[in-house]
Amino acid sequence: MKEEEKTKTLKLKAREKYSFCTCGKSKNLPYCDDSHRKLNEQGHSYKSLKIIPKSDAEIAVYCSNWDSESS
Ligand code: FES
Repeated sequence: MKEEEKTKTLKLKAREKYSFCTCGKSKNLPYCDDSHRKLNEQGHSYKSLKIIPKSDAEIAVYCSNWDSESS
């Protein structure tokens, strides 16, 4: 799958907290679903990336470890 095909456009609302997955194991990518906690029990130390926009925003996100089954 090409990089641009994996890119997702998200509309974020001002002052709402968004939690993005950094481990790649969420079933709800790009958002964190706390799947990283199981990885952390195995010695990893993943934490989600928290974003609180100051204003409404539209962003494009992409991660190289999003595979076709989760995107
Ligand atoms: S599920 Fe991946 S960081 Fe939370």
